[in-house]
Amino acid sequence: MPADPLLTLDHSSPIVTIQSHLLAEQARIPGSTGTLSWILSAMSISAKIIANKVRCARLEDVLGEAGSGNVQGEQQQKLDVISNNVLLRLLGGREGVAIVASEENEEPVIIRNDPSGEHRYCVLFDPLDGSSNLDVCGGVGTIFSILRHDPKVNDAQTALLQPGRAQVAAGYVLYGSSTVMVLTVGNGVDMFVLDPAVGAFMLVERGIRTPAANKSYSVNEGNRRTFPDGYQKYLDWAQERGYSSRYVGSMVADVHRILLKGGVFLYPPTKKAPAGKLRLMYEANPMAWLIEQAGGKALAAPGQRILDVQPKNIHERTPVVLGSAEEVDHVVAQLG
Ligand code: AHG
Ligand code: MN
Ligand code: MN
Repeated sequence: MPADPLLTLDHSSPIVTIQSHLLAEQARIPGSTGTLSWILSAMSISAKIIANKVRCARLEDVLGEAGSGNVQGEQQQKLDVISNNVLLRLLGGREGVAIVASEENEEPVIIRNDPSGEHRYCVLFDPLDGSSNLDVCGGVGTIFSILRHDPKVNDAQTALLQPGRAQVAAGYVLYGSSTVMVLTVGNGVDMFVLDPAVGAFMLVERGIRTPAANKSYSVNEGNRRTFPDGYQKYLDWAQERGYSSRYVGSMVADVHRILLKGGVFLYPPTKKAPAGKLRLMYEANPMAWLIEQAGGKALAAPGQRILDVQPKNIHERTPVVLGSAEEVDHVVAQLG
């Protein structure tokens, strides 16, 4: 068993919390105001509150449907509503937040939108991803994307409709066997684990790199017969080569595995969802940027980077192919 690192005094491996990490990142950028760090700090506090709710779900009677639908026409779980409210309340208190957009709210929520408000940001999120897994104690998560806010743009929708390449921060929290936060501010991908006894996210890995290849795909194969031909050809190709299939049905859990172990995640167009199921602005974009920052690839179609898609609607959907660079190339080769 490895020795407890606290048994020896090693100055070269300091204990770094997410707060000190953010302050150090901020210090690298000349003229930085600290506004973005303060917003990310709100995200980490929200994550702790949501993690606690998820862990106590069955004890506190917060499982099951809330009895309402969201803008996508999907049944909201009680924890979808709770997580959304936690994020809105935390972010609402941060001076640097101009507009918030959520999977659970049809319209963007304008927090403050005065024309003099410079150095402000738009925050988009999926408060609880994979929430249908809650009843069976499966992995769920929060996904978020942060964009700059242009105070000259009055209309909230217009202010938000920026391509993914304009993101200034993106990340997710996985409420799994431990609570993990994965973050990029455009300087690689860093991972933090919540120490529940201390109540702080601790830096556990800097500069994560996705393996260039891993013979593993992650897709809802039940929909296979309704995928466009190229995706079906890819699945034949992969199965002939002995690929493994891994699918949780919670994007955060599936992408987290691929980030760390490699492979490819696919959500193709289907008969039921001809434009794909996943939402461009608060599911695909943040995950695409994280994967690219880790050396992988993320496409909406062959030759179409997710990050270059110009959104026309904050809730629009996109097909997704992302993961290890070589595995994405294999998919593209079959899509033709
Ligand atoms: P959400 O719970 O936020 O609506 O997202 C669910 C998403 C995503 O997490 C997952 O990748 C996908 O739905 C699974 O869809 P299928 O059940 O169609 O495979
Ligand atoms: Mn989701
Ligand atoms: Mn959700």
